Amino acid sequence: GEGELAMASVAPEVEKKEEEEQVVNPWEVSAGKGGIDYDKLVDQFGCQRLDAALIDRIARLTGRPPHRFLRRGLFFAHRDLNEILDIYEKGDKFYLYTGRGPSSEALHLGHLVPFMFTKYLQDAFKVPLVIQLTDDEKFLWKNLTVEESKRLARENAKDIIACGFDVERTFIFSDFNFVGGAFYENMVKVARCVTYNKVVGIFGFTPEDHIGKISFPPVQAVPSFPSSFPKHFSGNDQLRCLIPCAIDQDPYFRMTRDVAPRIGYQKPALIESRFFPALQGENTKMSASDPNSAIYVTDSTKDIKTKVNKYAFSGGQDSVELHRKLGANLEVDVSIKYLNFFLEDDDELERIKKAYKEGRMLTGEVKQLLVTVLSEMVERHKRARARVTEEVCNIICYHIHLVLYI
Ligand code: TRP
Repeated sequence: GEGELAMASVAPEVEKKEEEEQVVNPWEVSAGKGGIDYDKLVDQFGCQRLDAALIDRIARLTGRPPHRFLRRGLFFAHRDLNEILDIYEKGDKFYLYTGRGPSSEALHLGHLVPFMFTKYLQDAFKVPLVIQLTDDEKFLWKNLTVEESKRLARENAKDIIACGFDVERTFIFSDFNFVGGAFYENMVKVARCVTYNKVVGIFGFTPEDHIGKISFPPVQAVPSFPSSFPKHFSGNDQLRCLIPCAIDQDPYFRMTRDVAPRIGYQKPALIESRFFPALQGENTKMSASDPNSAIYVTDSTKDIKTKVNKYAFSGGQDSVELHRKLGANLEVDVSIKYLNFFLEDDDELERIKKAYKEGRMLTGEVKQLLVTVLSEMVERHKRARARVTEEVCNIICYHIHLVLYI
């Protein structure tokens, strides 16, 4: 290979000591007071920055305005996105691959981000999509039974379908149900190329970790290869793959890209996002294991109001007088960060930020706006989910004979 791993060769243990706080891997995201240093992450992981020229190119090629997640730098890094756009410009297609580890009954707002963005990409480029539900991963990492992991996968699938994917072009699968055949053949091809030392370097496994963890990465790697889905892609083995994901998943795909050319496959391209912050602030991401850090798609408007008012970290001043004088610190204000993700109107967002920063708007007023935006979104999601019947779920999920429309 041409050294996908060169920039990432420092073992996580060493990294932790040198840099003090920042830890980002698929299982842990934490930073110091200043929040995650995304610039450092890009350099450390060896990915590329998603610049304005690339965003313009996406807009030009798709004939639509870039998604707000692009306009606002929330998807901020990539690998070989230019190559995917070259292919598309020539009139050829590619496919999208993303996934979710079903660790909780309901999704929270942070979980929705990659799926909202993937829906935009699918609509804009009219391309097929595979979604992996890693119920096996959650069995291995969380204290769940096989049955419970599978049940959560199916519940999560309904929330994912509710995001509105193109039924003709989308395949959602649970690892427990689907792994086998060509998919498994690719897994062992990948596994033979990765030494124990290499996974330790990439993922930071320790000698105490069970071998289930150590052997899992090929499972998440191989949906990057179309030959893992011989029926769905009916032999279209040259199709390139683009993976939208949060940047904590990068280690899996660094490994995948390192191995791909050695087994005669194309490297997947990536488009990577920042994390959706916890209500408490930017030093960690929203986590399903701490219900007070997260707003769920099952929360009522009342729940949302309570959580936002009680927990959303405020950049406002301690007293109204002081706030009027000094204004808010937008850098740390969680309500502004959430509006940045979900308020579509750029002009309105700018107006709010300016007024809040100059002390003309109070935290309470910003929070009230946020509650409206979030509850509208959550209510829309609930209505869409209620329309997802068992039948639709059966067609999109676990439907192993579906040929995807390319
Ligand atoms: N490991 C991811 C999680 O825990 C799930 C996942 C599987 C995924 N394949 C993916 C995420 C591809 C992004 C892209 O949520």
